[in-house]
Amino acid sequence: MEGHIVISEEDIRRRLKELGEAITRDYRGKDLVMVGVLKGAFVFLADLVREVDLPLEVDFVAVSSYGHDTVTSGVVRIIRDLDLDISGRHVLLVEDIVDTGLTLRYLVDLLRAREPASLEVCALLNKPAARKVEVEVKYCGFEIPPLFVVGYGLDWAERYRHLPYVKALEEGDRKPINNEGNR
Ligand code: IMP
Ligand code: MG
Repeated sequence: MEGHIVISEEDIRRRLKELGEAITRDYRGKDLVMVGVLKGAFVFLADLVREVDLPLEVDFVAVSSYGHDTVTSGVVRIIRDLDLDISGRHVLLVEDIVDTGLTLRYLVDLLRAREPASLEVCALLNKPAARKVEVEVKYCGFEIPPLFVVGYGLDWAERYRHLPYVKALEEGDRKPINNEGNR
């Protein structure tokens, strides 16, 4: 499985340090709330907050996603809202990947209506070639070609989120789960 790694653990670690430094610089003295988009961003957010050397608060939203395949339905629905009141606060929305942009467009519009002091986006991965609607990604980990990828939080049919690296989904990855120890 390691043969088709798109982004290695070491690449991720190095890039997260840079993103953490940029966020630390940009948000110094500001009331920062980092909002992870579940489930995909849970690994990225967990590692990223530890690279930010500032007081901050963490919250989550969950939205409906692709279901069990690799093609978007284009329908976005919120299934878990924020606990925190974000009005007047500096919000950084943390996503695993921006593909068509539909999920982010929906979330940005939803959160902006609550009048945060600022609202920016940080995404681990960006597939600009797949974009259908415009969204601004201020902090981007890596640009990748329009491949379906898994690992480091990203899933296919809820599998492979636990991989410590990002790899392209291959035919063999769609086989049923067995107990022979394959990830
Ligand atoms: P968008 O709305 O098309 O931009 O897609 C956003 C969501 O689709 C992401 O938060 C992911 O959950 C999922 N997604 C898009 N591309 C991939 C991929 O290559 N692998 C796994 N999930 C993906
Ligand atoms: Mg997702």
